[in-house]
Amino acid sequence: MKIYIETLGCQMNRLDSELIVGLLQSAGHEILAARRGAEAVLYNTCSVRQHAEDKVYSRLGVDAKRKADRSLIVGVLGCMAQREGKSLARRYPAVDFLCGPGRIHELPALLEAARAGRFVVALDPDRKTSIDLQAVEALEAVDLSRDPACCPSESQAFVRVMRGCDRFCTYCIVPYVRGAEISRSPEAVEREVKKMLVSGRSEITLLGQTVNRYRHKNGETTTRFSDLLARLSSLAGMRRLRFVTSHPVDFGRDLLEAMRDLPNVCPYIHAPAQSGSDAMLKRMNRGYTRAQYDELISAARQIVPDVVFAGDFIVGFPGETDADHSASVDLIRRVGYKNAFIFKYSPRPGTTAAKRYEDDVPEAVKRRRNLELLAAQKTQGLAHHRQYIGRTLEVLITGKSAKEKKKDARQEPSSQTTSDHVQLQGRSRGDHVVLFEGPESLIDTYAEVRITDASDLSLFGRII
Ligand code: 5AD
Ligand code: SF4
Repeated sequence: MKIYIETLGCQMNRLDSELIVGLLQSAGHEILAARRGAEAVLYNTCSVRQHAEDKVYSRLGVDAKRKADRSLIVGVLGCMAQREGKSLARRYPAVDFLCGPGRIHELPALLEAARAGRFVVALDPDRKTSIDLQAVEALEAVDLSRDPACCPSESQAFVRVMRGCDRFCTYCIVPYVRGAEISRSPEAVEREVKKMLVSGRSEITLLGQTVNRYRHKNGETTTRFSDLLARLSSLAGMRRLRFVTSHPVDFGRDLLEAMRDLPNVCPYIHAPAQSGSDAMLKRMNRGYTRAQYDELISAARQIVPDVVFAGDFIVGFPGETDADHSASVDLIRRVGYKNAFIFKYSPRPGTTAAKRYEDDVPEAVKRRRNLELLAAQKTQGLAHHRQYIGRTLEVLITGKSAKEKKKDARQEPSSQTTSDHVQLQGRSRGDHVVLFEGPESLIDTYAEVRITDASDLSLFGRII
């Protein structure tokens, strides 16, 4: 079958889609780069905010019309399928099958059933009742059978170290849709990382919803996240080792010291604060106070040279006052994040916050607070990036810049400085976006770039 997959949401979803491509190709299907000519369309969806789900609803509406003209199989996979279950298919009859994030190994069979005209569903049981160990094993097999040829980058790869989440922040749907927290065995992680290194990738990003909570017990031996980093960092071909997303509570000294001592572990910490106010942090069940978050930032600064922070914030959480909001603005001003993702609170049915608290901050106030945090971050982001002017950074060149890609799409000639130069984009060890001119042949290699200018989101420089 010719299949088109559309992926929405986080890095974990993108990794799932990469694995799905491999799985379906080995079942004999063809994966298309665009929707045109597809016999089946699969949406790998996100449920974290209403906005992502709305996108899928609108796609499903259009698909219903398409299905009137020709045969087309439509599958909804991922967090949204798990969250909504059969009610989604009842409301959107265009949907032929549903597959939760813990069931992707069943996809080839689901597609066959859908092709035979049956409506099929593969979802995880309610997380309160049980962990389905058989499904976890089957998922492990999918991760381990990963084909590097399906990896979208020649130089970077993502490797999952944990599944699920047990933290239950009151606003968050993830613990319900991705299930209980499980750390993969260090042996399995190492095997997968080695496979990606041998295939030529040299920057590995370890993934988990709370990646630094990683902890694996085997008899008497416990592997902490810092131990896992040490083990992986010594593998041949490992030039950069990163991890996302961290939880502020689980940053022990051992982890910060590992970041300092292991030369290929990148000095980049994405540790979402969500709010700068103790009252909000408590209601969100984040498990730390503002003072503890501040302590983490200063400990990381002291221990890890050149450390760079990124953050997430939610504005308009139920009960958020102007004073609570000001505490978030203040935190942004003090930390000096490289970048911060700022979200308006979106109540997710089934979460504690949606059950317990009224969504009482008016939309106009959420919008204003959102803009205020964005403005504060813009100022801080510019100051952060300006510090690098005059310095030389090691950059992994990941591709053409967005500007250059747009030009390609419009088929305009590129802005050439010399005949074969285009605007390239890469990442520093601190995860800065770095833009500079150079030949396309440098993509997926490392270069030294002297930084000459900065904006709030990126650095500009000259390759040396
Ligand atoms: N509303 C708004 N933002 C949310 N996030 C998670 N759940 C919600 C929600 N219900 C944000 C958090 C998290 C990021 C991935 O998404 O900031 O860190
Ligand atoms: Fe959601 Fe909190 Fe778990 Fe992150 S730590 S996935 S915000 S419940």
